[in-house]
Amino acid sequence: MDIVVIGLGYVGLIDAVILAGYHQVAGYDNNRDKIQSLQKGEPVLNEPGLSTLMAKNAGHLFFSFNPSDCIPGKAVALIAVDTPESQNGSADLTHFYDSLDNIAKYGDRDMTVIIRSTVPVGTNRLAQQYLNNHGHCHFTVISHPEFLSQGQAVSGIQKPYRLVFGIPEGASKNVINKLYAFYRGKKIPFIYTRPESAELIKYASNNFLALKISYINEIARLAEKIGADVTEVAAAMGLDPRIGPSFLNAGLGYGGSCFPKDTKALNWLADKKHAPSETLKATIKVNQEQPLLFAEKIATHFGGTLSGKKIAILGLAFKGETTDVRNSQAYPLIERLLELKAEVVAYDRSAIGQFRKKAPQNSRLAYSDELFAAMKGADAVVIANDARELRNLKAADFVAAMEKPVVFDGRNIYKLKDMISIEYNSIGR
Ligand code: UGA
Repeated sequence: MDIVVIGLGYVGLIDAVILAGYHQVAGYDNNRDKIQSLQKGEPVLNEPGLSTLMAKNAGHLFFSFNPSDCIPGKAVALIAVDTPESQNGSADLTHFYDSLDNIAKYGDRDMTVIIRSTVPVGTNRLAQQYLNNHGHCHFTVISHPEFLSQGQAVSGIQKPYRLVFGIPEGASKNVINKLYAFYRGKKIPFIYTRPESAELIKYASNNFLALKISYINEIARLAEKIGADVTEVAAAMGLDPRIGPSFLNAGLGYGGSCFPKDTKALNWLADKKHAPSETLKATIKVNQEQPLLFAEKIATHFGGTLSGKKIAILGLAFKGETTDVRNSQAYPLIERLLELKAEVVAYDRSAIGQFRKKAPQNSRLAYSDELFAAMKGADAVVIANDARELRNLKAADFVAAMEKPVVFDGRNIYKLKDMISIEYNSIGR
């Protein structure tokens, strides 16, 4: 099939590269620098497996920043543009409607438009009306939410837990069956729903995972007060298949481009529709408090003020093995530590450049791109994400780098028994 993918961010680029293994794919994005890199075969994202697959499928991939090069002649378009959080918490659909305008303008044959972007419930039907009102041919719009997780996106798409399609009444499943013929025989559930359900499945899934994180963070708060260990609690809870072990790691809370935005967007929708949404609100509140409580814990350790104390923050990206700093919990943590008068040195293996752009301007905030240099002379080291190089640190490394090693592990990445030789604090244990 001849396909166009519109928006080559995380989801769009990975979709394009995977689909090029089976179809002819044109990728459009309005970011010229990105397109020029992609045209040179540079994968632009640091995602395991992506560059190998991109090289392998290069013969079926074409990239352009000109929609007129990509859209005409295509029977299938995937929209994967970003839908960032707007000021009132709802999703900003500017880029989404720009894509519809391009499809309406350049689409020259009947087309199936597959929406991968996370959009408010009801948008798929509106998009179908919009395209059929503005375009020259017939458009069928299918909601097909993505469930990719950074760091495992390529493997995740090769073997998804499920594929969800929200299709309008009377629409054929033929295009989907052809597009995804390569999944046949792999026992992957294809779930067909009405468009509204598909849209809600995406939000409800992300909100449920965020709820699990906030839930275990609340249990961690209680565990600390009563002398329990939240990692023991979570491990035993997770053995019950009705609960499951994942997303029960207590820590500084969730960040990233998805959970913070999607929790707020669903809450906004629930409020708008007058559907009571107490767990959604509590999920967000607990997550906002989590880094602030951790900063207070550090301050309490030093007698209430951090004046004159050097605190090294290790791991600025929202999770390990990415350079993505969007809504990283390191931001509110550092802001609070600065308010408490700390001298902060921030370290990340590869995300410092991105992090700085949105970090507070403060003479007490410095950066180090060398792990041991960041720790040297620090009164306390704070682990802010679960990057592999941080997980690999041993108590002896802290002893070697610091005069009096004090560690605050905001991701519970070390075993208590491995840290008994130093002053080690974590979350909920
Ligand atoms: C998330 C979902 O996991 C994907 O299924 C979804 O498709 C994606 O959002 C999206 O909507 O596009 P992602 O944002 O890549 O994927 O990251 P996660 O691995 O889910 O982690 C999110 C945050 O939660 C991170 O800050 C992580 O440190 C934190 N987290 C995760 C915890 O604090 N505890 C946990 O147990 C798990």
